[in-house]
Amino acid sequence: MRILAIESSCDESAAAVFDGDRGLLAHEVFSQIDLHQIYGGVVPELASRDHVQRLLPMVDRVLARGGEDGKPIEGVAYTAGPGLIGALLTGTALARSLAHAWSIPSLGVHHLEGHLLAPLLEPDPPSYPHVALLVSGGHTMLIECAGVGRYLLLGETRDDAAGEAFDKSAKLLGLPYPGGPHLARLAETGRPSRYVFPRPMLDRPGLEFSFSGLKTAVLHAVRALPDASQQDRADIAIALQDAVVDTLVAKSLRAVAQTGLDTLVVSGGVSANRCLRARLESAAAKQGVRVYYPRLEFCTDNAAMIAVAGHARLVAGERDPAGIRARAQWPLDSLNPPGNL
Ligand code: KG4
Ligand code: ZN
Repeated sequence: MRILAIESSCDESAAAVFDGDRGLLAHEVFSQIDLHQIYGGVVPELASRDHVQRLLPMVDRVLARGGEDGKPIEGVAYTAGPGLIGALLTGTALARSLAHAWSIPSLGVHHLEGHLLAPLLEPDPPSYPHVALLVSGGHTMLIECAGVGRYLLLGETRDDAAGEAFDKSAKLLGLPYPGGPHLARLAETGRPSRYVFPRPMLDRPGLEFSFSGLKTAVLHAVRALPDASQQDRADIAIALQDAVVDTLVAKSLRAVAQTGLDTLVVSGGVSANRCLRARLESAAAKQGVRVYYPRLEFCTDNAAMIAVAGHARLVAGERDPAGIRARAQWPLDSLNPPGNL
């Protein structure tokens, strides 16, 4: 089955064409970073208006590139939640309209299921069952994945997400939005031993996270240095990154050990962080655990991952209900395996 996929849950407009036999045929992502940067965060109304302008021409381009063999599109998948409701509705309305006009089925996909399945786009995909660490701007979760749509939440953050800890700390350090990648770059020149921030909840059993205290630690460090030099800021950045990464690595391996599994899948925007990847690799190797990631461009929001999730469900016969539904909130563990409604 060949499908078109659309992603518009936050500040990336994305479209992809995916074929069950031939894999990913075309995909495109437009990031609205420049639009939101002066506000220091995503402005939902501006995000929706920009999706409305970008999505249709983008869909035209991926259809042209992904349809050179003349085979038709047989389904449309789109992100139906969770996310910014106005932004979600732009992609939802477009996808549903195209499917209606072409008389083909459509299906709303869970954004986090997209992130979870992004590593399946790689030539050496992970097998099931495995433990997934999902680390994005809005979520930090450890999930036992028995198969597509079979997710057991093992633990999540009680407050800020890992990406949020990066973004809020980056803001305190005067870095542009979205701060995660900027903070990671600044940390490259930081001296690791100058500051040591707390490793939240690491000393306690369990698989929950808490990152909100870290921005307070960063705030105190920043306030204590009113004339902070570039080196001072880099020293704070590396301390923040170390605290987040150490916590993610330790809890992920704890989850793998608790479940008795030997495969860890890491996805979501923060999985692009090089320090996280390096430390996970070495810690996992010591424990005999294999770690899988999506390639860098599929760590952050994209439509290829939505296509993978949508394809698995459309081929199993899942279809949208008659009414249009986009969901700002949508618990991941309310999903069922494909075709099992
Ligand atoms: O998955 P994603 O694109 O969007 C959400 O669904 O949230 O993740 C975006 C998050 C942001 O918080 C961003 O700062 C963070 O991922 N991020 C990073 C890096 N690249 C993206 N955080 C740390 N290091 C990076 N290299
Ligand atoms: Zn995302």
